[in-house]
Amino acid sequence: MFKIVEFSHLIISEYIKNSSLSYIRCLDATCGMGNDTIFMANLLKDNGHVDSYDIQEIAIKTTEDKLNNLSIKNVSLFHQSHEEIDASLYDLAIFNLGYLPTCNKSITTKKETTMIALEKLINEIDNNENLLIIICLYPGHTEGKIESDFIDDYVYNLNSKKYLVTKYLNYNRPSSPYIITISKTKM
Ligand SMILES: C[S@@+](CC[C@H](N)C(=O)[O-])C[C@H]1O[C@@H](n2cnc3c(N)ncnc32)[C@H](O)[C@@H]1O
Repeated sequence: MFKIVEFSHLIISEYIKNSSLSYIRCLDATCGMGNDTIFMANLLKDNGHVDSYDIQEIAIKTTEDKLNNLSIKNVSLFHQSHEEIDASLYDLAIFNLGYLPTCNKSITTKKETTMIALEKLINEIDNNENLLIIICLYPGHTEGKIESDFIDDYVYNLNSKKYLVTKYLNYNRPSSPYIITISKTKM
């Protein structure tokens, strides 16, 4: 079976493959080691661009080196919190929450800042019917549990006439990572 990150990549590939947009603007809200950024940039080639945000210099530097080695040009890196995003710029956004496994685990996403970026994007769905938000959540560590409980509750209560919220999870493993997607409800 797919691991959860692989499953998020499957959703991204299907979105890009089936999109009617001639140019797709993507956001990686948590750049990390650049795996999601590079995955999207490679799929998009000349037909789109990825903006990638991270608060850690090591994440931005590592990703910059990888992009240079791979001669990938359709990415902009931002050493900034994802709270700063302009949500009107994007058609597809991924939040791979949590911490970098190989680095300081206390530097992790937090519900307060994640929600600022997420709310901006959710509001933007009213203006951009193509916008798809993908969130990978990690309830298996303390801060991740606080964050995922909060996000779960928030998205569960979104108006179903406006927003379609979908959850993908390992049903018999309650603390394993899972995915939530948010898009416009199509009548
Ligand atoms: C699980 S990792 C992301 C993995 C990454 N997408 C990849 O493909 O390698 C989570 C990342 O979120 C970053 N992060 C934490 N708070 C953030 C914030 N407010 N804005 C942007 N990035 C943040 C961390 O520094 C960490 O690199």
